[in-house]
Amino acid sequence: VRDLRLDIIGFGHVGRALARLLLSRCEDVPFKVVSLVTAHHGWWSDPSGIDLSKAVDMTELPSKGPPPKIADLPGNVLVELTTLDPRTGRPALDHIQDALRERKHVVTANKGPIAHHYPQLLGHAWVAGRQLRFEATVADCLPVFDLARAALPLAEIRRIRGIVSSTTNHVLSAAARGVPFAEALADAQRLGIAEADPANDLEGWDAAAKATILANVLLGARIGIDEVRRTAIDERTADEAARAARQGARLRPVITVERLPSRTRPHHLEGTRVRASFAAVRLDPLDPLFAVDGLSMALELETDLAGTVVVQLHDPHVDQVAYAVLTDLLEIAGWRSPV
Ligand SMILES: NC(=O)c1ccc[n+]([C@@H]2O[C@H](COP(=O)([O-])OP(=O)(O)OC[C@H]3O[C@@H](n4cnc5c(N)ncnc54)[C@H](OP(=O)(O)O)[C@@H]3O)[C@@H](O)[C@H]2O)c1
Repeated sequence: VRDLRLDIIGFGHVGRALARLLLSRCEDVPFKVVSLVTAHHGWWSDPSGIDLSKAVDMTELPSKGPPPKIADLPGNVLVELTTLDPRTGRPALDHIQDALRERKHVVTANKGPIAHHYPQLLGHAWVAGRQLRFEATVADCLPVFDLARAALPLAEIRRIRGIVSSTTNHVLSAAARGVPFAEALADAQRLGIAEADPANDLEGWDAAAKATILANVLLGARIGIDEVRRTAIDERTADEAARAARQGARLRPVITVERLPSRTRPHHLEGTRVRASFAAVRLDPLDPLFAVDGLSMALELETDLAGTVVVQLHDPHVDQVAYAVLTDLLEIAGWRSPV
């Protein structure tokens, strides 16, 4: 197992959860955190390793002023956990490009750069001979890319349906129990699951970014976020959710990514043609996504060889985002599970 030296950029909810996780399993994992960087709360870098037990209790990190450039940080892995900008993917995109240029491996939970620039970043990683991993970007630690890599060799994924937006699923699940829209949304914000600007969730930008990642990574498409058809979740949708519940059905916020027949051969010249959407969909009790309530998330992968595979993550917390980052780090370190 390789020793990893981590430069963690972004020390907010996920960064701190990762630090707590590394502290709790420090006997098992060969990782040393050598840099912690924030935008407004200082930074800390030490090639011999940072005392994480001190760092998790600090609101202000000891060094002030502009942090060193990524090239000057002492780690061999960049862990990118900065704030999401769903429209551009910046500044995370610049951080990732700088790290790959310096031949550092990259792990990120930030869906912006992967949704906007996956093919280019994959190219940079290939040229650098380093790994780019992003398991946390779609549904916390629900296995998506690891599942496809490990359990679906040769199988072609034909269609993906999923619930990957905790905020909108929470709002529609609460509406089904009679909770007013505004109250359910405020509750999601209080729990820290809604983006600072709830429009990102309600207008489907967050879900569209995730659908784009799934389409481009798992189906070999080359779509942009704008190509995902979005139907916003609003008070009317919440009323519809309450009505559906009274009739024994459920309204769920569902993304769909579907492979379409290719127009040209060979189709890799244009990427796989897909249709992708996000909308509230009425489901009956036999649908695998029916029972995925509240903050829970699930994905259904329809394949040619493996049938239809459904995975669900029940009631996740920010610790499960940190765990997904940890699984990516363990892969890079070459750690193998004994089972
Ligand atoms: N929270 C979740 O449940 C969840 C789930 C899946 C994925 N994610 C993704 O994980 C990432 C982190 O989320 P979070 O909830 O931890 O966010 P957060 O609590 O807002 O923390 C963001 C951190 O990034 C820092 N930062 C922002 N811009 C920076 C820059 N240019 N250079 C250096 N540091 C910068 C912030 O510093 P300051 O505080 O000083 O501004 C803060 O430390 C986001 O991309 C998010 O979309 C989060």
